[in-house]
Amino acid sequence: MGRRALRKIDPAVELAEHLRELPSLDPPPLDPQTLFPQAAPLELEMGSGKGLFLERASAERPGHNFLGVELARKYAHFAAARLARARRSNARMISGDGLRLFREFLPDGCAVAVHVYFPDPWWKKRHRKRRVLNAAFLYDVVRVLVVGGKLHFWTDVEEYFQSTVELIAAAAPLLAGPHAVAEPPTLHDLDFRTHFERRTRKAGEPVYRVEYERLVGTPIPPAPSLDDADDLPGDDATGDDATGDDLQGNL
Ligand SMILES: C[S@@+](CC[C@H](N)C(=O)[O-])C[C@H]1O[C@@H](n2cnc3c(N)ncnc32)[C@H](O)[C@@H]1O
Repeated sequence: MGRRALRKIDPAVELAEHLRELPSLDPPPLDPQTLFPQAAPLELEMGSGKGLFLERASAERPGHNFLGVELARKYAHFAAARLARARRSNARMISGDGLRLFREFLPDGCAVAVHVYFPDPWWKKRHRKRRVLNAAFLYDVVRVLVVGGKLHFWTDVEEYFQSTVELIAAAAPLLAGPHAVAEPPTLHDLDFRTHFERRTRKAGEPVYRVEYERLVGTPIPPAPSLDDADDLPGDDATGDDATGDDLQGNL
């Protein structure tokens, strides 16, 4: 299937209000509510891609604030432009590494929900440690969630789904679940949770959806892994998961 190039951002769209580069937030910590005109329960999205979830959820829940983070700069800017065009005062994008945002910047108990939709699968076994849903990130998810807050995880990769459910059971006992989530009906061509959900369902492929709830208790940080520093992203020329490449197209 041919891929269209990502649509150019209209230079007339003013991004300053909706977009922050992660380094501009230095030094940590960050009070995420300062990014919004009004304080409100906060929902975080890791790996926002082109921002369909943020645009739709911020309209559906105007009483919540939404903060997305996206590693690929061109997609972070695209998503921010989408929020700016839609004049969303309750949604913001950060361009940068979400693992760093969670680990260094976000305070304990700042969010009512964390959304992780269709994270890069890193198919090769030796690359799996690059997956964002790892023990260290899950520790931060638990830490930033209020008691009763939700983790939403959807993917089209059954193996990633199963291994993450197992990892959460072993490494994040303060996340109660997994609670299955039924496939939502779609009423129109953009009536999907994210761009990747749309692509997967239109191809007739299954989507694995799960939800967890944060329990009372103090999360315990995972022990550092000896191979954390090995095999960093960028040392693989094959690009089997080329970040964001599958997001081509203009929806
Ligand atoms: C497969 S895409 C899915 C995008 C979107 N969630 C969707 O469902 O359409 C995964 C996205 O996660 C982003 N990503 C990967 N690692 C990240 C990180 N450490 N911080 C922020 N975003 C990241 C990629 O750049 C890519 O846009």
